[in-house]
Amino acid sequence: MQFLTSSIALLCLSAAVSLAKNIILTNDDGWQATNIRATYYKLKDAGHNVFLVAPVVQRSGYGGKFDIPTSPTLQQGGEFNYPPAGSPSWGSEPDDDHIWYFNGTPASSVAFGLQYVIPEKFNNISIDLVVSGPNEGTNESPAMFTLSGTIGATYNAVYRGYPAIAFSGSNSNNSFFKDALDLNDTSAPSTIYGNKVVELVDALFKSQGSNSRALPVGVGLNVNFPKVGYENETCSDPKYVFTRLTGQYASGADLKYNATSNSFYYAQDQFSPLTVCNNGDCSLPSENFVVEHTKCQTAVSVFSIDWDANLGLTNQVKGLIAPVFE
Ligand SMILES: *[C@@H]1O[C@H](CO)[C@@H](O)[C@H](O)[C@H]1NC(C)=O
Ligand SMILES: *[C@@H]1O[C@H](CO)[C@@H](O)[C@H](O)[C@H]1NC(C)=O
Ligand SMILES: *[C@@H]1O[C@H](CO)[C@@H](O)[C@H](O)[C@H]1NC(C)=O
Ligand SMILES: *[C@@H]1O[C@H](CO)[C@@H](O)[C@H](O)[C@H]1NC(C)=O
Ligand SMILES: *[C@@H]1O[C@H](CO)[C@@H](O)[C@H](O)[C@H]1NC(C)=O
Repeated sequence: MQFLTSSIALLCLSAAVSLAKNIILTNDDGWQATNIRATYYKLKDAGHNVFLVAPVVQRSGYGGKFDIPTSPTLQQGGEFNYPPAGSPSWGSEPDDDHIWYFNGTPASSVAFGLQYVIPEKFNNISIDLVVSGPNEGTNESPAMFTLSGTIGATYNAVYRGYPAIAFSGSNSNNSFFKDALDLNDTSAPSTIYGNKVVELVDALFKSQGSNSRALPVGVGLNVNFPKVGYENETCSDPKYVFTRLTGQYASGADLKYNATSNSFYYAQDQFSPLTVCNNGDCSLPSENFVVEHTKCQTAVSVFSIDWDANLGLTNQVKGLIAPVFE
């Protein structure tokens, strides 16, 4: 009995250990955001070795822009003045060398993790997955794909050869973890999102072959959570639904002109080409439909960084411009 119990304990231990993965975690809201800190601790609690590397200030909407520090010290303080102006342009938490800020964009923060933090500080261990988010605000449809810094960090990781997932939430409050982080508060959106991130990440690793990657080369996931917890008390565990990027209600950035004030303002608009289906499974619902028009569900879309048009479209367009190839 004693032997049996310890064998079972050993088996459980080896199962838990084999799932421990090396994960880079980034975002576009900044290293001090409550969402990213909650997810950091949730992934750690699940047994993973997590490296948080994120911009020192809010960099929403920067897409894949690739900024590099132009000065060794910060000319302005970080988000929430954390850290203050005059601090080094990159650094880690005094009490946790796995948590880093970088005076760059989300995409360059991923590169900072891979080219500096991992090789210089952690013996160049191999990274199994890059997670971006959970963003403060949703990132649905191809219109947001190139615009979003959360997704920009993700496709940057994918083209470097890393499996990567973008997570975005509906809680758009840009809060400081020192004010708002409470992992014991099961109604806090950051806590709920952190648990959901672990659920998806662990499902991916569990189904992965022993020596294979978590996702195929050139492929990533885009995940959008609905309002949960304090933002919608009836939704505390939004189930995952498989979606596609284009489709019903897909919308993107637009501007409107106000002739009275001779100025422009931002508007989110629907454009019919955002409902086109040229690739993938056309029977899937759109991200916008699932997050905004169903009850308490999370959208998961699979994307490819092979942006080339499919074979039929390629041949059709090649025919249109055939004379230039003669
Ligand atoms: C770190 O490992 C990667 C492969 O995972 C390799 O391409 C790179 O050259 C290594 N960097 C250093 C500084 O050893
Ligand atoms: C936003 O976060 C701050 C803490 O940083 C909190 O005081 C405030 O109530 C939050 N606002 C909303 C609408 O959740
Ligand atoms: C959360 O709960 C744990 C265990 O009950 C406790 O040790 C910890 O202090 C709590 N943290 C907060 C922020 O309340
Ligand atoms: C246009 O600008 C005027 C003058 O500032 C303002 O009163 C009006 O509300 C604006 N209209 C819209 C649609 O924003
Ligand atoms: C809150 O979630 C419920 C389903 O759990 C849904 O019916 C409702 O529309 C949601 N409300 C908001 C404001 O998102």
